[in-house]
Order: sequence, then structure tokens, then C-alpha cells
Amino acid sequence: MDWDSSADAWIEAQGAHGDFSRRRVLDAPMLDRVYACAPRHLLDLGCGEGRFCRLLQNKVETLVGLDPSPALLAKAAERGGAQFVSGRAEAIPFASETFDMVVAYLSLLDIEGIEAALDEIVRVLGPGGRFLIANLTGFATASDIKAGGWRILPDGGREIVVRRYLEPHATVAEWKGITVTNWHRPLSFYMTELLQRGMTLTHFDEPSVLHPENSKEQAYNNAPYQLIMEWQKGP
Ligand SMILES: C[S@@+](CC[C@H](N)C(=O)[O-])C[C@H]1O[C@@H](n2cnc3c(N)ncnc32)[C@H](O)[C@@H]1O
Repeated sequence: MDWDSSADAWIEAQGAHGDFSRRRVLDAPMLDRVYACAPRHLLDLGCGEGRFCRLLQNKVETLVGLDPSPALLAKAAERGGAQFVSGRAEAIPFASETFDMVVAYLSLLDIEGIEAALDEIVRVLGPGGRFLIANLTGFATASDIKAGGWRILPDGGREIVVRRYLEPHATVAEWKGITVTNWHRPLSFYMTELLQRGMTLTHFDEPSVLHPENSKEQAYNNAPYQLIMEWQKGP
């Protein structure tokens, strides 16, 4: 029940251009933030099979993808676009102040040792460096959306059952042949932990589908379940 044993199913589910959340909701605003900050040295933490790195290929001087899954890293290396390195967020194998941007694109919810990971992210960022996050919202991870915890209503709205929102906890997420552990944490957890590490919030967004083309996309906009945060190291 880990990312390596789900790697084939994950690669299949992403297809050539990424799944719905990435392609239709997150990619455009995430790329906008990278271009707005114009980093020279970027680390994509939990890069998976390297899709976001490929979108940034040749746009950043140093582009590194880090992931603990050998199968996902092998696919990333085969597809190219960046330097792909094996490792975990809890012990990032780079010297302090190596990067001016760290990206966690839907990977914070997969990281077990989150406090150590946040320490490491702050450590490898230079002064003024940015930490760019795309994550599922806490009410999404507390409602187990992958297991049908959200019911779509006839008018496109969603009905959800949220359990244990304030309590960080692990859930097993299963969809499309993928079985992994997700780590639910409320928004206050991330805000508090990052503020305590001297980080300053520079951007926050709950992005929507810009031009919904079907009922699924309209339903997403009724109850968006992803957020983007960008934090700066220091004031
Ligand atoms: C939902 S996937 C996202 C992959 C990629 N960022 C994307 O958007 O396609 C989560 C990724 O986090 C990685 N991951 C899990 N635990 C990790 C850890 N402790 N440190 C770094 N990455 C981790 C997994 O191997 C997986 O590739």
C-alpha cells in the first residue's frame, strides 16, 4: 500500500497530460506562480513521474525532482526534463539554501513525517525563497472523497460528510487501481507549522475551472476541493 506498488496504475491514471485536477484546475495557476517568482533553482518535492517538471523544462536553470518511489522515478527519468533524485521530504539530500523555490504539487498529503519535511523545506530554501503548495483541502481529505464521501446532487451541488476534521490522521485512499495512504491535516495545521518556521504567506487561492465545459467541471466549481498557497522564507 505505497506509491511504488501503485506506480503503474498512477502513471496510467495521469495519462499524457495529467488528470482532471491537474489539467483543468491546478496547472495554470501553479505555472503562473512559478513564472511570477522566476526562480533559478527549483525543487519539485514528491515529483512522481515528473509531469510538472516536464512543464517547466528549460524554463528554470536548475530543475530537480525528488521522490522516494523507484518506479515513479524510473518513469520520470525515461521521460526526461529534469534531474530526478531519489529521496524523501523528511531528509532532503541537498545542502542548506540550495533552492529558491520548492514546489509540493499534491504531495504534502502523501508525506508521513510532515514536521520533519517542513523543517527540511525551510532549510533548503535560500532567504526569500518560496514554497509553493497545491494540496487537497482539509474538508476533502476529512471526507474521503475518493471513496465516494461526496455525493453529487441533481443540481450539481455536493453533499459531504466530514469526520475528525481537526484531528490529523491517516486514511487509505483507493481509486483507479491506486491504493495509498493520505494524511489528513486541517488547514490550521499547515498555517501554524509554517508560521512557526518564520514563513510569510505571499499567495493563497482556491482555483476553479476557468471555462467549465461539462457538468463535472461545473460541479467542481460548486465545491472546489483544492487550494494553492505560496510562502516566503523570512519576512
Ligand atoms: C499524488 S502524487 C503527486 C505526484 C506529482 N507531484 C504530481 O502532481 O503528479 C504524491 C507523490 O508523493 C510522493 N511521496 C510520498 N511520500 C513522500 C515523502 N515522504 N517524500 C517525498 N515524496 C513523497 C509519492 O511517491 C508520489 O510520487
